[in-house]
Amino acid sequence: MKRNGLFPAIAHLPRRAVSHLIIPLCVSLWASTSCFAVAPPADPARAQLAAGKSRFDKLCVSCHGADGAGKDTYGPKLQHRPELTEAQIRERIIQGKHGDHAMPPWGTVLDNEAIEQLVAYVSILRQPAEKQSTAPLSPFDLYDPARIENGRKRFAKTCAGYCHGHEGVGGRAPDFKGRTDLGAQQTFDVIFHGRMSSDVMPPWGDAFSEETIWELVAYLQYLGRQPLD
Ligand code: HEC
Repeated sequence: MKRNGLFPAIAHLPRRAVSHLIIPLCVSLWASTSCFAVAPPADPARAQLAAGKSRFDKLCVSCHGADGAGKDTYGPKLQHRPELTEAQIRERIIQGKHGDHAMPPWGTVLDNEAIEQLVAYVSILRQPAEKQSTAPLSPFDLYDPARIENGRKRFAKTCAGYCHGHEGVGGRAPDFKGRTDLGAQQTFDVIFHGRMSSDVMPPWGDAFSEETIWELVAYLQYLGRQPLD
């Protein structure tokens, strides 16, 4: 009977070579299956928020402002409104509001899943400012000193020289110190997508990972909490 009858392709290989082949094969097979088995499922809560945010950006910002910041907008601000309950938010989205200061009803346009995504997103926006050490979609605590430090280094290397100045002050772009009006999510979006205004801010979404951008956001938020001296 032939040796290695089961594996004709490797039957002619010396035994040592076979073991060299088999062991790494087994290890990588084991690793890939076990990695697969333990691979974290995409966080459903985060996925829901992400979907809610992108819907909000399409359907709601025109009246409520970016991130529901709602300053001088037709609709009221939704940010930092802890008194709004989840039930009220859901109801308003479904029913809208008739009258001269109206909000369109979405209950007939969007399915239940879409509405719950919006409710989840607005429910984060409404949290009071001091509770927002995380933005709706930030993957870590934005007050984490190690993240702030990473952001500071990246900022000094990439952003400070040309446009933003040391510690974000005195560059060609607006200062960051003492800025309390910049929401974390909004800051992320501007870094990710860039901005075309009178001065162009380039988009960094292709050059930096999301994590790196969130670290920059952590740093800029930190600067925003510092007094202007
Ligand atoms: C055409 C403008 C407009 C659009 C678009 C719009 N809203 Fe509104 N929204 C309003 C106005 C105006 C009010 C205030 C209604 C009132 O007097 O209670 C409001 C109120 C709300 C409230 C209740 C806030 C409060 O103070 O009681 C929530 C929550 C809300 N909107 C969420 C959304 C969401 C989510 C979307 C997107 C799916 C959206 N809105 C789209 C105009 C709009």
